[in-house]
Amino acid sequence: MTDPNLRAAYDGVAARYAESVPERYHSSPLNHAMVSVFAELVRTTGDGLVADVGCGPGHVTAHLGALGVTAFGVDLSPEMIRLASGAYPELRFEVGLMSALEAEDASLAGVLANYSIIHMPPERLPETLAEFHRVLAPGGHLLLGFPAYDGPAELAEAFDHAAYLAYRYSPDRVADLLLRAGLAEVARMIIAPSEDPKRGFPQAYLVARRTA
Ligand SMILES: C[S@@+](CC[C@H](N)C(=O)[O-])C[C@H]1O[C@@H](n2cnc3c(N)ncnc32)[C@H](O)[C@@H]1O
Repeated sequence: MTDPNLRAAYDGVAARYAESVPERYHSSPLNHAMVSVFAELVRTTGDGLVADVGCGPGHVTAHLGALGVTAFGVDLSPEMIRLASGAYPELRFEVGLMSALEAEDASLAGVLANYSIIHMPPERLPETLAEFHRVLAPGGHLLLGFPAYDGPAELAEAFDHAAYLAYRYSPDRVADLLLRAGLAEVARMIIAPSEDPKRGFPQAYLVARRTA
């Protein structure tokens, strides 16, 4: 179950989002960096299908395609999916929830969630990571990108996001939850807070692998 207000919020901002965010993504070598590493890991560990969950207007799904990975996009917002399908008609996009993916057990070589776990309330993050584990084949890779929280012991801190209430997460605590879900961290990148002129948050990218 996901809050229907979240879907309405993203349907409402989708057109504006599609006009600005893909361009910002493609002008940031740091945002590209771990997506390229992830694509390389998927390709060198036998290839296979990758789900871009919370794909928004599909620019990262398309970037994965340009990097030689067969990817499809899933998003809870029908309007985001309509825009993604219009922009990249050669790719597959579908409406769906990251906590209930329409994929067989162990069927995917990779799952990427770029800034899309940010609306997941912290108490629901473990079940979402369990879902990523379910759909990943053993040895498959997960890439999570999210605004990082570097405060004391908390898992997450809420912040005011343009679309909807959002959370920034502690990379260490997320790595612990990943491990408990059967996904071992293999790499991480933390982008300095000074690179985020809007909020001054560090940005985290965590790569994890489904253990055998
Ligand atoms: C901040 S945008 C990020 C979009 C894109 N991944 C990017 O990198 O620009 C968050 C996206 O995640 C989607 N989303 C949020 N929660 C979701 C959920 N539980 N299941 C599927 N999609 C979700 C939203 O509809 C929105 O398109």
